[in-house]
Amino acid sequence: MKPIYILGLILLSISLSASEPAPLSSCGSGFAAPTDSTNFLGACRIPPSTIPFASVSAAAFGGGQRCGECFRLTGPLGSTVVMISDKCDTGEACQQQDLFHFIIPRSEFDKIGNSSAYGNIFSLGYQEVSCDLQGGINANFIAGGEKKDQYQYYFSVTFSNFAIGIKRVQIRGYGWSYYDDLTIVGGGSGFQWNKVKANEMAFPASMLLTSVDNQIVNWEFNKPLPNVTIDSKKQFTARPHPEVSGIDCAMGILPEYIFKDTLSFGWQVYESFYYKSLNTSSEETDDNNKNGEYVIKIQFAQLGAGLQFTREGGFGTNYLKTLFFDAKAVQPISNMRIYFGYDGGYSIPFTIESSYKTFQVPVADLKPKNIEYSLTFLSLQPASMDSPQNFWIDNIRWEFANGTVTAPAVMIDTSGYAFPTSKPSTSGGLSSGISSIGMTSGFSESDSQTGGVGTGSESTNEGSGSDSSKLVISNIYYLALFVLSLYLLF
Ligand SMILES: *[C@@H]1O[C@H](CO)[C@@H](O)[C@H](O)[C@H]1NC(C)=O
Ligand SMILES: *[C@@H]1O[C@H](CO)[C@@H](O)[C@H](O)[C@H]1NC(C)=O
Ligand SMILES: *[C@@H]1O[C@H](CO)[C@@H](O)[C@H](O)[C@H]1NC(C)=O
Ligand SMILES: *[C@@H]1O[C@H](CO)[C@@H](O)[C@H](O)[C@H]1NC(C)=O
Repeated sequence: MKPIYILGLILLSISLSASEPAPLSSCGSGFAAPTDSTNFLGACRIPPSTIPFASVSAAAFGGGQRCGECFRLTGPLGSTVVMISDKCDTGEACQQQDLFHFIIPRSEFDKIGNSSAYGNIFSLGYQEVSCDLQGGINANFIAGGEKKDQYQYYFSVTFSNFAIGIKRVQIRGYGWSYYDDLTIVGGGSGFQWNKVKANEMAFPASMLLTSVDNQIVNWEFNKPLPNVTIDSKKQFTARPHPEVSGIDCAMGILPEYIFKDTLSFGWQVYESFYYKSLNTSSEETDDNNKNGEYVIKIQFAQLGAGLQFTREGGFGTNYLKTLFFDAKAVQPISNMRIYFGYDGGYSIPFTIESSYKTFQVPVADLKPKNIEYSLTFLSLQPASMDSPQNFWIDNIRWEFANGTVTAPAVMIDTSGYAFPTSKPSTSGGLSSGISSIGMTSGFSESDSQTGGVGTGSESTNEGSGSDSSKLVISNIYYLALFVLSLYLLF
């Protein structure tokens, strides 16, 4: 086999291994975490822009097709626009292929949420928007030979300042009758051309750049100086992605279930209070098919104990219609309260009995704010550590208002993933919650929690720690490839 074909096969295998990114929805549901890293030239190899950079999970990054695209991110406190510049590669959140995960500078995170209160926004809303840049698309070429200016057999090119991500690059050398495709460099905005089946490169050449939304610009140019940034004077029409133009996306839609065999991604129970034990994988299903394998079992240890489901970064409520759950209690609970946040209380007008029954509560009766951060089931039944009140609950789910566009169902196995979380204090909230439901005394702050199941960790940066080492590896890789190609060609 001729060396040149071997090279071709190597390049082909690289292009095949560059995966497609997960499809975009007009208003997507993802999640975000802050970083203090100021690593600029990420895997996309785009120079710093006036728009803050984001590194994203494999799901969003694909093979680099979304490099340079801009996204508006919406959290509980507002929105910001970031540009995709890198692939995050540390932790399950970054590796998973389903859900868009953005790691953004802390300053941007704090525009949409509050990084001193929580380390994630689990119901992030995102939408692709126009980056709104000035000037033309820039290109920077490097070819073979000592001066890196021998374009006949091989060259690579990186682009910057593109208003919309570039998904395809084709070139027609002087005297050719066709355009030849460049290969995307695995996970970057760089592209490579080599003379596998085409003619030798000659100038002036003509290049077609296709954006991810299928705009095409045609650029004629003479032999480029190596490693010099050239302004093509061509630009894609900066505009919002057609599917999202005119749509003002809110926060991401919740998963349908809070709990079904397991807590849905982003929901936690570590803020529950005054309990003796709490087990989110109890097998006490009473062999009820509907309960599947696991239910939640909590032992309330005093009057006013609560099972609290929290979601860092909050969630919108205006599309939530009804809350359903299956529950039972060892001694009947006739005075349970359900509430969002720490104020307000809704006394359920039914009794939780000793066998599983399905209950439903109209969300409007819980008087939600636009954004809430938790949902609590509070027992006002007397109990103690010695004689706790056992409570089981399962299949906790929302019925959405008609017309709600739900996010794809994603259940990420979070067992191996250390959540970057800073657990907010419950003290202020708890006392105000209690007083608002008419119980102003009787609860000491020395709590009797015996086993939080939270997976708290102080780290709030799971994304960028290894960016530089990754960059070095990929540089060595491409350098080796480049040397190999020179060796084979000359
Ligand atoms: C952010 O959270 C901290 C700690 O919980 C709180 O003191 C501060 O007021 C919050 N800031 C905003 C803007 O909500
Ligand atoms: C291109 O130029 C930059 C500085 O202008 C330099 O750091 C880089 O190593 C050069 N790349 C090559 C392949 O010569
Ligand atoms: C939860 O309960 C199951 C049995 O129902 C038991 O196997 C498991 O160890 C318990 N988990 C914890 C954390 O207590
Ligand atoms: C949605 O619409 C259907 C049919 O119009 C109706 O039967 C159903 O109750 C509605 N659901 C909600 C949550 O409003």
